[in-house]
Amino acid sequence: MRRKIVAGNWKMNMDLSEGLKFAESLNAYFKSKPVKAGVILCTPFIHLAAVSEIIKNGTLLLGAQNCSSEPSGAFTGEISAQMIKSTGAGYVIIGHSERRTYYHEDDALLNKKTQLAISSGLNVIFCCGEVLNERESGKHREVVKKQLEDGLFTLSAENFRKVVIAYEPVWAIGTGLTATPEQAQEMHKYIRDLVKVKFGTVVAEDLTILYGGSCKPSNAAEIFSKQDVDGGLIGGASLKREDFCAIVEAI
Ligand code: PGA
Repeated sequence: MRRKIVAGNWKMNMDLSEGLKFAESLNAYFKSKPVKAGVILCTPFIHLAAVSEIIKNGTLLLGAQNCSSEPSGAFTGEISAQMIKSTGAGYVIIGHSERRTYYHEDDALLNKKTQLAISSGLNVIFCCGEVLNERESGKHREVVKKQLEDGLFTLSAENFRKVVIAYEPVWAIGTGLTATPEQAQEMHKYIRDLVKVKFGTVVAEDLTILYGGSCKPSNAAEIFSKQDVDGGLIGGASLKREDFCAIVEAI
């Protein structure tokens, strides 16, 4: 069964005490108001262990925003998938456009991270999406296809089932510009069709595909109403309690 998911990507925001307070308030809210979707908080690394404790008796799920491409060893400053798993987190975002752009993470590296995350017992939220000039020149499908083929399609079907895909047109991230519900649906269907060819109908139909990019309470319900949109990856609006709760409820 395809699962609906709303994931909040906190990015590099909130210090430890702010983050814990925020997690406590979301935990209390969703405990009193259960929703059908999986709600995942993707926090900075430093919050993971403590947020894991906070949400232990609630309904929220926990994820990291990145992991190392190496399993362990002399990689100063890195955090391994296994370490993330040991905090109680169940998810990790891989291939966010900010990591692709600012840290030059390419598809081969993202593939390595994905394999390692899954073998460490994590589920992966794998991001893909085109930049504005690729959309304007009609190359968006080609770009996303290559990101998926090189990043994900080397996985076994069994491992691919641990993946959630987030389609995030880069021109819509943090810009206030949103893909129209039709543009989102068109790309999500395209992605599902690619997965169908690669892994078969059952895997494709079970796959959760999230939309990300300036998702807010005013546009979430319409985007989520599309057949192949199974939820959202929320950046800016995930930092505001009312907005994030309203987006979750829109599903
Ligand atoms: P945004 O970010 O909602 O602030 O556009 C989405 C994301 O980067 O995941």
